[in-house]
Amino acid sequence: MNSEVERRRTFAIISHPDAGKTTVTEKLLLLGNAIKLAGTVKAKKSGRKAKSDWMKMEQERGISVTTSVMQFLYQGYTVNLLDTPGHEDFSEDTYRTLTAVDSAVMIIDAARGVEQRTRKLMDICRMRDTPIMTFINKLDRESLEPLELIEQIEEELNIECVPMTWPVGSGRSWQGTYHLAEDRFSLYERGHASELHEYQSIHGLESTESKEWLDGSHEDYIEEIELVREAGHDYCPGKFAAGHQTPVFFGSALQNFGVDQLLSEFVREAPPPQPRETRERFVAPKEDGFSGFVFKIQANMDPKHRDRIAFMRICSGAYSRGMRMRHVRLNRDIRVSDAVTFMAGERTMAETAYPGDIIGLHNHGTIRIGDSFSDGEKVAFLGVPNFAPELFKRVRIQDPLKSKKLNLGIKQLSEEGATQAFFPINSNQVIVGAIGTLQFDLVAFRLAQEYGADCIYEPSNIYTVRWVKSDHPADFLEFRRKAADQLALDGDDQLTFLATSRANLQLAEEKWPTIQFKDSREHNTH
Ligand code: G4P
Repeated sequence: MNSEVERRRTFAIISHPDAGKTTVTEKLLLLGNAIKLAGTVKAKKSGRKAKSDWMKMEQERGISVTTSVMQFLYQGYTVNLLDTPGHEDFSEDTYRTLTAVDSAVMIIDAARGVEQRTRKLMDICRMRDTPIMTFINKLDRESLEPLELIEQIEEELNIECVPMTWPVGSGRSWQGTYHLAEDRFSLYERGHASELHEYQSIHGLESTESKEWLDGSHEDYIEEIELVREAGHDYCPGKFAAGHQTPVFFGSALQNFGVDQLLSEFVREAPPPQPRETRERFVAPKEDGFSGFVFKIQANMDPKHRDRIAFMRICSGAYSRGMRMRHVRLNRDIRVSDAVTFMAGERTMAETAYPGDIIGLHNHGTIRIGDSFSDGEKVAFLGVPNFAPELFKRVRIQDPLKSKKLNLGIKQLSEEGATQAFFPINSNQVIVGAIGTLQFDLVAFRLAQEYGADCIYEPSNIYTVRWVKSDHPADFLEFRRKAADQLALDGDDQLTFLATSRANLQLAEEKWPTIQFKDSREHNTH
């Protein structure tokens, strides 16, 4: 058990769309021997057979609604890569997946630098001080100056960078990278994009071979490296573990250069499964008793059976097929004989699984986001919150007689994490909030399919929501009375403030200093 925990690395990739997440993922799977040829992941994305109407919708849009988990072995480590939906399928699941990992890899496009989505995902990682390694991608294209990229990351993301490799040129003049700790150049050669290969290397920054190879630019390059060493930070494992420092690698995923250097360092330095906080106590991964929590629910695998898969991260103990576990919220024991694991995106029946692994539990809607499972102990995991949606729409039902169905459907879908629902206390409107636009379409689709409630969306003037609480009952009462027009209950009957603009929120916060306005809501606290 100890060694199984020690050799596990569970992580996700954070990046702005098009920075290269899919391409890096593919090269990681190639390195982990989970696929044989590059190109497989992309081909799969579009070539999958439709299994349900929902999947048809996925295909029509050419995107993947499903988040998968990929497990592979590398240098003796078992690596679990949790996919974070990034394009139109960007959603709250993307954020919540980051609550289930022990570390993350950040990909930056060398020509574009730090982009908006990366900033947001970094904020989510900060909530748990997740350790982050960085890969600066697309060096085969004209890039920003490496020093400028480092400065941008440090300033905009407020994290110290420790360059592990440093590029020699970029774009057409890209020659390779220099590994600072190993004092070795790796030479870039085109033509190895889809296969594993060894780089040619030259040892010693100041060696005669290097001088010959770099020709007239040798002196300048030595100076540049001196500057990087002087101005840069020394690697400090403690700072990395606390999310204050990020080791940085340069390369090109498409050209299959540098991802292996990143992965070798990553498996060595990234943390194994860590203790996790529950409402009751911290649970250590090496404890014998089984425990885990659900961070994502994927529905409609088979619409006829309303089958759902709940993705559970195991936090302690081991899963074995057929075992009994306690569904803590319902205080009920279940026997699990058909949990699935995910090898390179393919589902297989899980025989055993360990802390850090993700298993998928079949269910028919009994499991909610944030639910905890244990060997019988009453433990409720914290840190799998709802995040304030960023987009809002008013829902109108076509047939008013079906409004009860609509409300039920919207509540159940919000328990699953597909979207969030808000019911203003002073009106009978229903508001749906989401992080990505596709969530609205999915919810409308499922409301019609599963609840027979056809609905249309109308624009809403809501800018954001905040969950409100206070330790001052009298103030809270007054606030509830005076701000009633802007208050709503969420799908779990928690009180929220619907702000119409940033200024509106700020004003409310200033006016009501004893009320807490929170941008996420923890499950399992009430
Ligand atoms: P994402 O999942 O983060 O959205 O990015 P993805 O890997 O799909 O990459 C986005 C685009 O960038 C793709 O091109 C991909 O081939 C390209 N790309 C990724 N890594 C590199 C790299 O190291 N160098 C260069 N030059 N390009 C890279 P596309 O034309 O949008 O897609 P495709 O037609 O290649 O599938």
